[in-house]
This record gives sequence, C-alpha cells and structure tokens, in this order.
Amino acid sequence: MKLELIAPDLTGVDCDALLLVEFEASPRGELAEALSTLRESGEVTGKFLELTLLHSPAGFKARRVLLAGAGKRGKFEIASLWKLAAASARLLKGKGAKKIAVVLEDGFDSPEHVSATVQAVIEASWEPDRLKTNADKDGSREIESLTICAAGSGLESAVAAGGIIGEAANLTRDIAVEPPNKLTPMALAARAQAMAKANGLSCEVLDQDRMRQLGMGALLGVAQGSAEPGAMVIIEYKPEKAASDARLAIIGKGVTFDTGGISIKPSEGMEKMKYDMCGAAAVIGAMQAIAQLRPSVSVTGVIPTVENMPGSKAQRPGDIVTSLSGKTIEILNTDAEGRLILADAITYAKQLGCTHLVNAATLTGAIVVALGNHQSGVFSNDDALLGRWMAAAKSAGEKMWHMPVDDEYREMLKTVYADIGNVGGRAGGASSAAAFIREFVGDTPWVHVDIAGTAWLDDAKPWMPKGPSAIPLGSFVKLAQEWK
Ligand code: BES
Ligand code: MN
Ligand code: ZN
Repeated sequence: MKLELIAPDLTGVDCDALLLVEFEASPRGELAEALSTLRESGEVTGKFLELTLLHSPAGFKARRVLLAGAGKRGKFEIASLWKLAAASARLLKGKGAKKIAVVLEDGFDSPEHVSATVQAVIEASWEPDRLKTNADKDGSREIESLTICAAGSGLESAVAAGGIIGEAANLTRDIAVEPPNKLTPMALAARAQAMAKANGLSCEVLDQDRMRQLGMGALLGVAQGSAEPGAMVIIEYKPEKAASDARLAIIGKGVTFDTGGISIKPSEGMEKMKYDMCGAAAVIGAMQAIAQLRPSVSVTGVIPTVENMPGSKAQRPGDIVTSLSGKTIEILNTDAEGRLILADAITYAKQLGCTHLVNAATLTGAIVVALGNHQSGVFSNDDALLGRWMAAAKSAGEKMWHMPVDDEYREMLKTVYADIGNVGGRAGGASSAAAFIREFVGDTPWVHVDIAGTAWLDDAKPWMPKGPSAIPLGSFVKLAQEWK
C-alpha cells in the first residue's frame, strides 16, 4: 500500500473516499453546515463505529466522504482510533475504494494517532481466505493508497512506523492462519528464518539432536508424540548503539497443533487448536518490525515449537521429565504442554544472557473464563518490567489485565514424585500455569502474557475478520521502541 502525508485539507484531497472522524455531540466546525440536516434527521450522531457514507458530497473533491462515528471525545483512545480506522477501511475496501485519505482532527493528530491510523488501514487489508480458490474471496478488493492529512513534527516517521507495524501484524496473521498440516514446527522455523534473512537478522534453529545434547527434556517430552520433529528457534536483533546493558527476550509458544496428547481434547472445536502458535507468530512479526524500526535495545526472539500429538511414542500422564534447568517435572496432564516448552525456552534465554523476559502464549482456557476475549492476562514477578509492559500495551492499543501469580499458586503444583507437577487443578488455572513458568524464571524480571482469549477472533467484527489478531505484536514492538 502506498503511504503519503500531506497538509490538512478537507475539501481539496483527490481520493475515492475521505475519512472524517465525527465525535458525538460535537460535530466538526468545518462540516457543521453540510452535516446539519444529517444531524437533525438523527442519521448521523457520532456514536462510536457509526459509519455513514456520502456520495459526491458538494464542495469536496473526494468522490465519497465517510463519516466515522468516534463516540465521546473524552473516551476516545488509541485503541478506539485503531478500531474506527480499521472498520472504516474494511467498509471502503468492500465498496471498491482504491485511494483513501484520512483527515485527523486537532488534538487527535499526534504521531501516535497517525501511526495507529496507518497501522489500522494496513491491517484492515488482511483476509483469512488465502486458500480459497473460488471467486467469493474477500481478498480480491484492495486499497492501493492511503493519504494522511495532518501537520506536526515527527509525522513522517509516524507514518513509516505505522506501515512497518501494520505489515508485521499481517505477517503474523499469515503465519498464524496457516493450517496445521502445512505449518509444522519445522515449517514455522523456516518462516522465522525467511523473515530473519529478509531483514538482516541472525537466526538459529536448534534441531532435536541439538536439544537432546543440551538437555531440553521438557520440550522433547511434548515433541515425542508427533512424527513431526520439534525445534527451538533463536532470532537476534542487535542495535548499532545500545542504550543500556539490558537484553530483552521475547518468547512465543509455538504449538503448531494441540490435540492435548494422551490427555486428548474433545473433538468439538479441536480444529481451533491450530492457533496454539499465535505467540510464536507474534514474535516473528515483532522481530521483523524491530529489525526495521531499529530501537536501541538488544532483542532476542525465542520460539519453542512442537506439535502435541498422542502418537505411540507420546509421553504419558505419570511420566517424569528433566527440564533444561535440571528441575524434574511430573506430567500430570499432557494437555498442559505450553508451559513445558516455555520452561525450556525461558531457561535457554537466561543461558543466552537475556536480562528481561517477556513470553506470550495461548496458555490456558482459564484465562478465557476470567477475561473473555477482550483482554489478555498479564503475570509478572517484577513491578518495573510490568510497568513498562502495561505502558507499551496501552500505546499499542492492546488491552491487558494484571493477574496474580503469588506463592499460593505455586503450592498447587506440588507433587510427591518430582520437583513440580505440570498442573494445579481447575481453580485459578491461569495463575497456577503462570506459577509453573515462574519456577523456571527465578529472579530475572519477567512478564507472561496469556493470549488464549485474544489471539484469535471467533466472530468477524467490523474492524477485523474472523481469525488471528496478531496480539501482542504491537506491545512487543512498543516495549522495544520505548526502552530507555
Ligand atoms: N492451548 C491450550 C490453551 C487453550 C485452551 C486455549 C482452550 C484456548 C482454549 C493449552 O495447551 C491447554 O490445553 N491448556 C489446558 C491446561 C489444563 C490441562 C491444565 C486448559 O486450559 O484446559
Ligand atoms: Mn494443551
Ligand atoms: Zn496448548
């Protein structure tokens, strides 16, 4: 998509559709006249996500004007702008608009607003139907260019950053949506390598032999039930000049399919478990954006990847494995596999010298019960890193809720036969899962993000098709960008 920044101009922009943000109870001054009848008729109220398309509006060079209801001024956040711009772009794309322009109002035209708008429009172009071969594909109509009409300093780079993050989010979605017969663990590793090569990053793939030598027994125990070998992928970004000694690791769960293993899942809805690698896909996308934005902190992307299958070599409930950390784990439920592969990934990241750890995982059904599909759950052992993460999530417009991971939850994982069990009962399941991971983190500052409810949209929304959301890619990128 071609991106362009020009000075604010309401009537003179030449485009197929001009997008105007319209607040509730406070119409834009410039438009007051043209809109007064629409306002009076009650057709345009400015309610959030109300989209009104006007054709050949008098006095405008634009072929169409889309009035995008923004709701109350005081409640309008970056996340609202992202949704509104994406919903508008999806509507306009469906109408065949190729060249669209956006005029941002005073006070809503900061670099953050501009970047979020560009990102939203690029993400809005993504469709999940790549493998459809018939004519009803949604992907055939495309927006070709986006013009942002705004004035202010830093907006050029904000446009570029929005473009980079939007493209990275679409890469994440492309990977996340691939079916599990095509996206095996090795195929996922190949996607990471291809991204790294294209963006000048180094990337190493540890195969099963290497992982066996290193002693990654927790990951290998999960992998052994599948004919597809597992892997550990490490992607490195190094800044020209680091602002500190910090080495950030972003770690993503890469289970390409989760049958549950011997503790097999019910068949209904099992097809959704191809999305159990969304954390990994977000790491690949984030590393691409980081390579292009070049923040001043070192970032290591770590992806443990396996397929959780109930093959004849599969691990059993009752097995005890020795993790890379040396701690022994009693497998009580083979469906609690994400925490097992993360345990070895986290230990490995620490061995590589990473000083701050952030992991993202579609880890528990319990977080979906707790927070629904609206917010990701956040667990941490360090208030400073937690603060940075929540700030990054806010500026990325990704909603996150802080959840507890106190010692009581660790108690739930006690077992007689090994250092720790891999499940702690139904109650507080998201927190006991976090407590399991924490056991391998130790005192290193760490944040765990449970994205089981947010990584995949079950129903299409005006701003997004059904499918992967790319969460928490935006927060990963902002965390690196805002690192001082
Ligand atoms: N990948 C699932 C988490 C999941 C479950 C995401 C349902 C979305 C919906 C994870 O590997 C898993 O199976 N977790 C179990 C843990 C349990 C066995 C302690 C769960 O949440 O049911
Ligand atoms: Mn599972
Ligand atoms: Zn899983």
